Amino acid sequence: MSHSETGSDYGAMVEVAVERALGGLDLETKVRLLTGFDFWTTNGAPQIGMRPLIVSDGPAGVKGGSILHEEATTSLPCPTALAASWDEGLVREIGELLAGEARAKGVDVLLGPTINLHRSPLGGRHFEAFSEDPLLTGRIAAAYVLGLQSRGVGGCPKHYVCNDSETERQTYAVDVDERPLRELYMAPFERTVRETAAWSLMAAYSGVRGTRMTESDLLRDPLEENWGFDGLVMSDWYATHATIAAGRAALDLVMPGPDGPWGDALLVAVRRGEVTEAAIDAKVRRLLRLAARVGALEGVAPATAVATRPPQAAVSALVRRASAAGSVLLGNDGILPLAAGGLRRLAVLGPNAAVPPSQGGGSANLRADYAITPIDGLRAAMPGVEILGRTTDRYRPGFQRLAPDEVALPAEAGADEGQPGILVRVLGELAPGGGEAGVATAEVREIYRERRLDGRLIWHGDPRIAGRPIVEFATRVTSQETGRQRIGLGVRGRVAIWIDGQLAHEDGEVPDTDDIDGMWHDPPYQAVELDMTAGRPVEVVMRWRKFYDQGIVLIDMSIEKPVVSPEAALAEAEKLAGEADAVVLLVGTTSLDESEGHDRTSLALQPEQDLLVTRVAAANPRTVVVVSAGAPVLMPWRNEVAAVLLTWFPGQEAGNALADMLLGRVEPGGRLPTTWPARMEDVPILDTQPVNGRLHYAEGLHIGYRAWLRAETAPAYPFGHGHGYTSWTYLDVAPVTAGGEPAVEVRIRNSGSRAGREVVQLYLARPDSSIERPLLWLGGYAAVEAGPGQNVAVTVPIDRWALRHWDEAAGAWAVEPGRFEVRVGRSVGDIRLATYVEVVGLGS
Ligand code: BGC
Repeated sequence: MSHSETGSDYGAMVEVAVERALGGLDLETKVRLLTGFDFWTTNGAPQIGMRPLIVSDGPAGVKGGSILHEEATTSLPCPTALAASWDEGLVREIGELLAGEARAKGVDVLLGPTINLHRSPLGGRHFEAFSEDPLLTGRIAAAYVLGLQSRGVGGCPKHYVCNDSETERQTYAVDVDERPLRELYMAPFERTVRETAAWSLMAAYSGVRGTRMTESDLLRDPLEENWGFDGLVMSDWYATHATIAAGRAALDLVMPGPDGPWGDALLVAVRRGEVTEAAIDAKVRRLLRLAARVGALEGVAPATAVATRPPQAAVSALVRRASAAGSVLLGNDGILPLAAGGLRRLAVLGPNAAVPPSQGGGSANLRADYAITPIDGLRAAMPGVEILGRTTDRYRPGFQRLAPDEVALPAEAGADEGQPGILVRVLGELAPGGGEAGVATAEVREIYRERRLDGRLIWHGDPRIAGRPIVEFATRVTSQETGRQRIGLGVRGRVAIWIDGQLAHEDGEVPDTDDIDGMWHDPPYQAVELDMTAGRPVEVVMRWRKFYDQGIVLIDMSIEKPVVSPEAALAEAEKLAGEADAVVLLVGTTSLDESEGHDRTSLALQPEQDLLVTRVAAANPRTVVVVSAGAPVLMPWRNEVAAVLLTWFPGQEAGNALADMLLGRVEPGGRLPTTWPARMEDVPILDTQPVNGRLHYAEGLHIGYRAWLRAETAPAYPFGHGHGYTSWTYLDVAPVTAGGEPAVEVRIRNSGSRAGREVVQLYLARPDSSIERPLLWLGGYAAVEAGPGQNVAVTVPIDRWALRHWDEAAGAWAVEPGRFEVRVGRSVGDIRLATYVEVVGLGS
């Protein structure tokens, strides 16, 4: 444990310093400290030597704590990919890397990991969470936080609790029974808190049983009182709505600031006796303790040595390794690894072939330091092979909106006096209050300008966009191809667009809401459609009027790629496929499909992508499909192609890691952390739609593979599934004890011709149980490596967290005494061996 200081001299010293600091504060200052200073910063208290703390998103990189919150940074594989590694050692290294990045940017607390569960594959933030299984989620989450906190940066597991979907996330409350609440949704939080002594935690927007999480008793019991959490609870951004109820609850910090329901209103409530000063002190203590741990309180050394950022080569190597370690080889008829010697021509096709790797949308979306595209990675790795396929554009059949973080504009756009990019100007209206009318005609003066290199504009809490200014985008777009093209803004509200100086569009409803999600996520696309001629530039100017006061803006400027015709694009891809010795075809989702703020409504890829796969695979049976998605997608063609490799959202080393895997320099190491369905209608839980503000987890204990087993439906790929480049024979299993705890020893043989790594998985069953149980549930796992022909034995402990259940009558954890069956396999759908262990009971 990194935070081994608890109970030690260090812990005692912190408590003394905290009490001393608390004693130096008056009530006004204490209350002021409990609301953020701005978007990413807390208030400091110089009189007691406490500097402000800086927090940052999280979780697949460190965005930085500056007002723009979008300094370039290392873009890691998405959290689903990290969980797919089933490798806590690797995830801990990632945590350490993140700590180094955080410290280099002055960040004290990273807002992650996201440890809500994959209750439904439709959940918009699925890419950002780890797994459908609480045990795997908890182990990976603890490793991530240990990595961070061992290097001086606080983790912030989020979003406590049951924020497993996004529809109406600001307002819904989950109805869930006690056992699933404890055994599924809280379990990863409990484990992370207990195993890492997490320095902070984030309370969700949503609620449980009718109460918002920022006001919930669950912050006190079990979090504080039972799990021993002594860190700081901060609210999700703008999630606190009550002065008194949240003041009385064990919520410690309202984020962001400077406004919010506390401040002077809380001071008044304390003076009136509606919130006790003791409650205020308890909150301030937690803030001071966090400050002490990260080294922000004078006179107290940080809890752990503060990290520095490793050299770039080491960062790149780790990201590259992690990307392959989490990639899941779903199917392989033997084509992979590619025998480079036998290849003369490789076609690299599909919408993702030549674009930077996709990411999920929302607060996790970041500006990558750099991006190795698949085609660039493969070109560099195979100098002697002719790569067919130059750009992605012509293989995107039909109109396809490029996600703004996918499209870098410099090659095509000119902003300001020939400079590449987009000129963004903030304009003040000379006669404000124009309402719906006149965004095109408003008289304006320039407040501020900057040049941007991609189409995503995010401002957080920036005073320059306070109030209701007009934001203008100006650029010159030169198309590489002749054809119809759409250019526009993804934003709610009133938009005007000029093409070559002519007003071409003025439209858009001004919404009657201040719901931030409505503004940020999944906004309508307001665009003009125009006939472009290859090589001939058009001047594009777009204006949007901000219609709310909060200092946040997220606007996407997108371009839809022109395509001669869908049929022509398909025919061209088919032709290249036919000329190649093998095809790598890259498909997937983007931040427009998977995002914070909304759930998906379908699991299908765009129909054009499915059609592309079918046609290309028919043209060349040696087609490897590479899927990039953070959440399950349907692959109706999966048995028609030679191999399917799932890279998730792979991070900035995408192309290099892909080349490593395709050429067999490394094995794709991943195993599915979540079931992948064959058909949408088979999915047990599709319900993410609250009814009258309530979302009922009617399935109880049965989510993910537990539900699939109960329904007796076969998915496309079961939980735990994934091939490597060798094969494994499971020889035998025997119960043993390890450190006094029940375990099994499993012997397996590498029966293939290459060295490899296998994730040996244990599933428990209790058919004679006196309580309701899933048919099988994950009971432990361990990875083992072996050379070709080698036999290896691995001891896999039965994870003690898997043996317990919540005894509702006793209100406590219990272990049912007796015999637990232990099934050993390669996935929950591929059980190879079985034994049982006798367990002594615990509790009532
Ligand atoms: C998200 C959090 C995030 C916060 C700050 C919220 O909308 O739910 O996960 O940390 O914004 O960006």
